[in-house]
Amino acid sequence: MDAAIATALALAVVYPQAGNLAGGGFLVARSPDGTVQALDFRETAPARATRDMFLDGDGRPVPKASTATSLAVATPGSVRGYAEAHRRLGRLPWARVVAPAERLAREGFLVPAGLSADLAESRELLTRWEETRRLFFPDGKPLAAGALLRQPDLAATLARVGTEGPEAFHRGKMAARLVSFVKAHGGVLSEEDLAGYAPVWRAPDEIRFGRLVVHTMPLPSSAGQVLRSVLAQLEVARGSAGGLDADSYHLLLEAERRAYADRNRWLGDGDCTVVPLGEILEPARLAALGASIDPARATPSATVGASLASDSGEAEETTHLSVATPDGAAVSLTTTLNGSFGNGAIVPGLGVLLNNEMDDFAIAPGVPNLYGLVQGSVNEVRPGARPLSSMSPAIVEVDGRPLLVVGSPGGSTIPTTVLQVLLRAAGGESLGAAVAAPRLHHQHTPDVVFVEKAGAPEALRASLRARGHFLRERGPIGQVHAIVFAPDGQLTGASDPRGSGAPAAP
Ligand code: DON
Repeated sequence: MDAAIATALALAVVYPQAGNLAGGGFLVARSPDGTVQALDFRETAPARATRDMFLDGDGRPVPKASTATSLAVATPGSVRGYAEAHRRLGRLPWARVVAPAERLAREGFLVPAGLSADLAESRELLTRWEETRRLFFPDGKPLAAGALLRQPDLAATLARVGTEGPEAFHRGKMAARLVSFVKAHGGVLSEEDLAGYAPVWRAPDEIRFGRLVVHTMPLPSSAGQVLRSVLAQLEVARGSAGGLDADSYHLLLEAERRAYADRNRWLGDGDCTVVPLGEILEPARLAALGASIDPARATPSATVGASLASDSGEAEETTHLSVATPDGAAVSLTTTLNGSFGNGAIVPGLGVLLNNEMDDFAIAPGVPNLYGLVQGSVNEVRPGARPLSSMSPAIVEVDGRPLLVVGSPGGSTIPTTVLQVLLRAAGGESLGAAVAAPRLHHQHTPDVVFVEKAGAPEALRASLRARGHFLRERGPIGQVHAIVFAPDGQLTGASDPRGSGAPAAP
């Protein structure tokens, strides 16, 4: 846990696209004795948030209000989340866990090409904010690859969090500074929201699939529901064996279509509203869904659940890390500001970027979010509620021993990315091959199979078209960091060739 939290904090410095102090996330942690716990440090809607806060007088969504403004900011959860995870499962002193991130911020680091390119891509969002412009766009241009980036304000924030603990961020001067910035720009976040935020330990969802058990996030993430539904349908449609070939891809995509129909319509924060999870996940119902898959034909989404129409697509950034030790301890942690660089604002004096997690709520009926998800009123904005997430940190066991630590960014594509790596690894592919393999994705609405431009062999595409699927090309799907345990405890890590991470070992 020390390594996981130190890494997450370092990512807030060197990977501002998604690493964060003012965002949120989830983690699943396994102890060597086999205990698995999950921590929810997802952001919450501020107390003064309202259902229609992103709509104009005529009930139409105000463009970008839920993504690029101060209203988009949900109450951050990461600092208290990291501290709570460390309090329960860390061993090193807290100050020591925070120190490497503080040093990276103070001494600076050389901007990687990926950050430079992402800054250029998000230029319009980022340059609206004075402090962000000053730090990331010196001379009006995005920081060049190889430039030294020092973040003294962020270093000072981390130094205080390191010496005083998470309260330094959630209460007092720093909290006041963050809130007054948000308020000055029309947001509703208050000091009470920050002071009142609490991470929550939850019982992880435990999903059986053949000899495997998958431990992943329950609500307010849709991970557990999507993974359980898809795997149960697959068991009926083809038996429980792993592996992914052209024929099984059709079945997987059809199961995804059905699982996302439920997700988008019925899921929200189960602590604040009624989610009929028991009914949705009833084994007989899932078996019937699996049996409704036609092996030869795609089922139109309009005839599966409720079609809530429309779609969109935009830059997505979240970040996932996996940590494991040979004794069977593991942490799978996904954290995010939601969109790339969140709402784009760096708070002057604090050096932290703000999230735009409010966009994960259903901001208006029938209106897609950043990830094209069209969600139901169960997931509407409610004060104090957590927006429905797709983040799917997972730890997989086989016959009671740890097998795989896995997770990914990618918004709505996260659960299906995790599923593909899982099925391939379970089918005997090497971890590197399982992570590198082309990915496909279905989320019910829009009624298309997303395929990576640079992926999916033509034979697979042809076999899907022949079954009546519509294919839509897009950029890379997901950015996995995963670890496998060999039976003797030997660890192998794999980082996605789609991203710039790399496995590390002591
Ligand atoms: O919680 C969610 O589902 C989204 N806020 C995650 C965003 C994300 O993965 C962006 N990624 N690439």
